[in-house]
This record gives sequence, structure tokens and C-alpha cells, in this order.
Amino acid sequence: MNRYIRMIKINLVKRKIEEVIKGSSVPEDPIHSKNTLEWLLKLMPNADESLKIAALGHDIERAIEKRKVRRQDYKDYDAFKDAHAFNSANILTEIMQACDIDQKMINEVFSLVRHHETGGTDRIDILKDADSISYFEVNLPHYFIRNSLQETKRRCFWGYRRLSDRGKKIVAELNYQNKNIKSLLKVCIDECEQKVLR
Ligand SMILES: [Fe+2]
Repeated sequence: MNRYIRMIKINLVKRKIEEVIKGSSVPEDPIHSKNTLEWLLKLMPNADESLKIAALGHDIERAIEKRKVRRQDYKDYDAFKDAHAFNSANILTEIMQACDIDQKMINEVFSLVRHHETGGTDRIDILKDADSISYFEVNLPHYFIRNSLQETKRRCFWGYRRLSDRGKKIVAELNYQNKNIKSLLKVCIDECEQKVLR
């Protein structure tokens, strides 16, 4: 396929993703989408277009009120996150099909997003890491305001444990204006490291 036409289609997909995520009721979703892409490019400067689309759209289902999955409908947080990943992968597939993206790329983006919560290959693991680092940089302060201390702590543990060693080092150096978030993260890191040493 002509490379110029291919890039036009890819840029159209990115614009559609941005439009959908702009409508999210979760205020940090648009920032998290772009910030995950920024972290992806820091971790893997030569990331291809499939990875970039996956980074931008990995949480897209959360922006669509009528289609988003709800925590209370799942037996535990991992089951909820698995359904979230599957739903986002399906929605991105629909967008890519509408933009006439080739099937190979559709399959690749589907697979990256489908498994972005659990990882599995080098490429998925990089997306997972970019997503997790971005959670701590962008989402955590918002999550802290919306949820109880106990729930924020649980989410911090869940997010920290899924980071690579490189991601853990990056997150440990993040700075927060809110002292409570700073100390919450420190407790989370200390407890996780102690469990590893035990
Ligand atoms: Fe995410």
C-alpha cells in the first residue's frame, strides 16, 4: 500500500481515538492517553505505529458511557481489568476497520491492547510499563481525590507490582506536590520491596 495513504489512515485513527477519549467522564483520560504514548516513546523511541495506536487507545472503552465495563459486575479487580482490555481492543478494532486499516495492523493493535494489563511479549510489556508509569504520573493524584485512602493504596500496590524493574525506578523518582500522595507511594514501595526481600 502507498505509504502516504497508509499514514493518512493511521492519522485518522489517532484523531478518532482522541475525539472519543475527549468525551470521557474520567477527567484524566485524555492526558493519560497522550502521556502513555510519551512514556512508550521514552522506553522505546522507535516504537511502530501499532504500538502508538495501542498506547493512545488502550483505555478507550472507559470513555464510552454506554459500552464501558463496570467494576461491580466482576468478581474481582483482575477480572474487571481483563474485560476492560477486551472491550477496548474491540472498540479500537471497529475504529480501525472504519478507517480501512489493513488486517495485519488491526490484529497487532488488538493483541497489544487485549493483553496490556497482563503483558506477555516484549512489545506488550513495554506498553504495560508505559501505561503503569503514566498511571502514577498522571492518574494517581486524580484517583486519590475520588477514592478512599484504602482504595488508593490498593490501586497503588496493584500498579506498582505490575511495573518492570526499570518502571519501578522511574516511578520511585516521580514528584508529587501533595505530600499525602508522596507518603502513600513511599509506603507502597517500601512494603512491596520488603515482600520481595522476605
Ligand atoms: Fe491506562
